[in-house]
Amino acid sequence: MFKEKVLVVDDDELVRWSARQALKSWGYEVHEATDIKTALTTIDAERPGAVLLDIHLPDGSGLDILREIRQLSPQTIVIMITGNVQVADTLSALRGGAYDFISKPINLDELQVTLRNGFETKKLRQEVNKIKTERSRLFSFEQIVGHSPSMKETLALARKVAESEATSVLLLGESGTGKDLLAKAIHYASRRSDRPFVAINCATLPANLIESELFGYEKGAFTDAKSRKEGLFEQADGGTIFLDEIGEMELSLQAKLLRVLEESSFRRVGGLKDIPLDVRVIAASNRDLRVEAEAGRFRLDLYYRLSVIQIDIPPLRKRSEDILGLAETYIAHFNEKLRRHIKGLAPETKAVFLRYNWPGNVRELRNCIERAMILEESDLITLKYLPRGIACDFSTLSTEPDKGFVLPPGGVKLEEVELSLVRQAMERSNGNQTRAAELLGISRDQLRYRLKKIGLA
Ligand SMILES: Nc1ncnc2c1ncn2[C@@H]1O[C@H](COP(=O)(O)OP(=O)(O)OP(=O)(O)O)[C@@H](O)[C@H]1O
Ligand SMILES: [Mg+2]
Repeated sequence: MFKEKVLVVDDDELVRWSARQALKSWGYEVHEATDIKTALTTIDAERPGAVLLDIHLPDGSGLDILREIRQLSPQTIVIMITGNVQVADTLSALRGGAYDFISKPINLDELQVTLRNGFETKKLRQEVNKIKTERSRLFSFEQIVGHSPSMKETLALARKVAESEATSVLLLGESGTGKDLLAKAIHYASRRSDRPFVAINCATLPANLIESELFGYEKGAFTDAKSRKEGLFEQADGGTIFLDEIGEMELSLQAKLLRVLEESSFRRVGGLKDIPLDVRVIAASNRDLRVEAEAGRFRLDLYYRLSVIQIDIPPLRKRSEDILGLAETYIAHFNEKLRRHIKGLAPETKAVFLRYNWPGNVRELRNCIERAMILEESDLITLKYLPRGIACDFSTLSTEPDKGFVLPPGGVKLEEVELSLVRQAMERSNGNQTRAAELLGISRDQLRYRLKKIGLA
């Protein structure tokens, strides 16, 4: 069974002996050192979970090696053993990173509790670190697919902004282009990543609540304000506040937001005091805010303030180089999540994906792949389970009274149309070639020829 290691550093034989007996009986693996030098080599070699460290040692003071211990083994917790407690020593020990201290003669019950708490703290710290690492991986720039030149440029700018001290950033892009994703990536790549990321959707908060939600209120600010309440800006202090759909924010509130940005301070509702604030505001909108501003629906001064750093995320149809990469990423993602073994997109699906104009952008692509991966029977994503609007570019092959089939505005690739229709006919006839040929109005031989050509027979 795994035993936690505890190193006892004391030159007093009796202290070590009694600690050793107790620690062993509590199930710890015990190591001992009588001076600083041996203590450091043991810590380096054994990486004990905890060190009981006497302050007065033959070759120096235990206080002086706290920093070294932290460097050698950052996870180790140090509990100082102090003879006669000197407040100054205790303070400097705690400041130097010691977890706690106990006084001599050692009270074993106290030692047991202190150690248990120490190990508990250590475990929690490790868990927090794990979660933080996981979180920054999840929201890192690496997760964002962008091979196209325009997206590369966007991402490079966003990375630069993340590392900068810029306190306001404006993200503009159509719905589903990744504004949420980019806002989080900027936060977690910034020096603010340990502080909160607070997201607010300005479109869904009721106008009469949004001011007190954002800025909090003082006791008595209105009838229901029985005590002071912290607003979201205050909660995000030191971190990032994400104002999604900023275009929906009321004009009067926009004025207050502008003040916060210009003065780095805010006032609670009903408050008289300006409270200083260090928060980065990332605002996002899927509207063209300049047009909104010029039409008087958005404050021009706020737009100018926000657009100092403006990041435009191009719509997917303008960066078709990203489509297949995104599809691959999502196929891998859903293979894992849905326990499927889909190998990729069928050739005709690739062609359709590249030509479709993706009004819902990446979100639409993602949803489309998820749906197809739940339903698809083959190991490729064919056109069978794609939403009509996407698969049936062929639906635009609808007929009009005197034109016959209507050529879609973006054109078609005739071979693909043929391929898709042949596939559909084969599917509808459950593989019966005679029936499929009938559906297509060709002979069975002509069908066979086509099946061969596209590798289906
Ligand atoms: N470049 C990308 N790489 C990988 N996934 C992406 C990318 N862009 C967007 N996504 C994914 O697409 C989906 C939609 O993205 P997101 O919610 O960030 O869009 P949005 O711009 O905030 O949309 P809306 O305006 O509707 O709020 C999310 O699942 C997101 O993870
Ligand atoms: Mg969004």
